[in-house]
Amino acid sequence: MNVHLIEHPLIQHKLTLMRKKETGTKDFRELLEEIAMLMAYEITRDFPLMEVEIETPLTKCRAKVLAGKKVGVVPILRAGLGMLNGVMNLIPAAKVGHIGLYRDPETLKPVEYYCKLPGDVGERAIIAVDPMLATGGSASAALTLLKEKGAKSITLMCLVAAPEGVKVINEDHPDIPIYTASIDEKLNEKGYIMPGLGDAGDRIFGTM
Ligand code: PRP
Ligand code: URA
Repeated sequence: MNVHLIEHPLIQHKLTLMRKKETGTKDFRELLEEIAMLMAYEITRDFPLMEVEIETPLTKCRAKVLAGKKVGVVPILRAGLGMLNGVMNLIPAAKVGHIGLYRDPETLKPVEYYCKLPGDVGERAIIAVDPMLATGGSASAALTLLKEKGAKSITLMCLVAAPEGVKVINEDHPDIPIYTASIDEKLNEKGYIMPGLGDAGDRIFGTM
């Protein structure tokens, strides 16, 4: 399975706070941003480096800089927006694309309503972000759209995944690694992740 579980203690602690039903919108949003930053740190761990010549105030020396592709961050609207600033804190030069999808509450199928990506999407290492990977329908559709628009290097970053969603992404997009802070137990009959944290978009934006 192409899935990486990020078990860093700070991430796990903050995720537990997010899951609690009494955690309000402000804290939920702040915690998500903090976790996104910590996850971005883990995801970028293997980014290639190269040496360049620089001059410190004292002497010339060779020092390391990032060598790989430039980064693009693509939040899946709405809830993915809650992870954007956390990633941008670490990679401030990244370009940002947006994919608008919502899950039809009856069919649970994704409905696309917006897509705007950097023109050079094919030359960037794309990090698609969405806190919830439930049935996998939304993320799979977003990844297909990214590929259709020319993206060649994509990573999917989510906060909480259901086993069902991981399976769908691994089947539909075996080339795309998933990074998640938790693989929860299952989906319930309404397609919510159990135990999960409820509706991420509603908790981020206070639209309960
Ligand atoms: C949530 C979540 C994912 C999707 C996951 O978005 O942010 O995008 O559901 O479900 P799936 O894996 O079964 O497709 P939602 O449709 O609630 O829209 P929102 O972000 O605008 O609230
Ligand atoms: N979307 C959410 O926000 N939460 C879930 O548990 C499933 C889909």
